[in-house]
Amino acid sequence: MFNWESLDGSAAYDEWRSNRLKAAEIALNQAPVEVSDLSNPGESVVSELTNRCDAANFALYTSDDSGGDSEHSATDIPPVGDFAAAFGLKVAEAHRSADGTGVVALRVTDKGNQRGFIPYSPRGMNWHTDGYYNAPDARISAFILHCVRPAADGGVNQLFNPEILYIRLRDISPAYIRALMHPTVMSIPENIESDGSLRPVSVGPVFYGDALTGRLQMRYTARTRSISWCDEPVTQEAIAALTEILAANDPLMMQVALKAGQGVLNNNALHNRTQFQNGNEDAGRLMIRVRFHNRVQRKT
Ligand SMILES: [Fe+2]
Repeated sequence: MFNWESLDGSAAYDEWRSNRLKAAEIALNQAPVEVSDLSNPGESVVSELTNRCDAANFALYTSDDSGGDSEHSATDIPPVGDFAAAFGLKVAEAHRSADGTGVVALRVTDKGNQRGFIPYSPRGMNWHTDGYYNAPDARISAFILHCVRPAADGGVNQLFNPEILYIRLRDISPAYIRALMHPTVMSIPENIESDGSLRPVSVGPVFYGDALTGRLQMRYTARTRSISWCDEPVTQEAIAALTEILAANDPLMMQVALKAGQGVLNNNALHNRTQFQNGNEDAGRLMIRVRFHNRVQRKT
């Protein structure tokens, strides 16, 4: 496997770079994979989605499986956990969900401990990877976002493969990659979580290797409050360049307006969300999210 951590210019890097760019371009034009049964997606579906995630770090799917009478029920959700199991995914944050399966319903609510947290509001969300505040032994390497009901207006996501961001930065300066690989480059202070628990300070790199595969993973948030960056000039320059790339609508970013029954399977790609508005009459936007500690793979 290509060693992205080596910053020496080489023919191997040129080849990897060119293959990544080609794969990202192909991913932009692929129709979502049709999944007839989320609980039992079958070998060809699993193989296609795994290949797509391997190539471009995200893949879209579409299903008719809305989880039953989801028009009126907020609890009747599709079997996204079973779907994830077909990809050998290890569920993270099982503590957050009421049933211990790690399946989290994202919808506008001001109930209980979700009140005031952006994911449970109609506000937009800036670029980030999931779990950027997690401890090193609990990193998030993949997640699924599945749409039960879209918003009446807005709530559109953009996705960006971290490997493409890496290439864009390395094209400017390999020193930026080195700075962002530093084990203490980004710190998120401790915080009280939405479930009331205390999350300790999280210190770590932006670019790091997945524990099992060594593939490039990213830990990042565009937030500017409650975050501290290494104050080396090269790090500051690298962050400025990264911010500029994400703000500039790279042609390899994918815009995704998920419809009911559609979802994104991905290796914790960078993503954002526009603000949205629910209709007066409908039950409101409902997305299901499940996070995992390993990357999408064939079940072994
Ligand atoms: Fe997210």
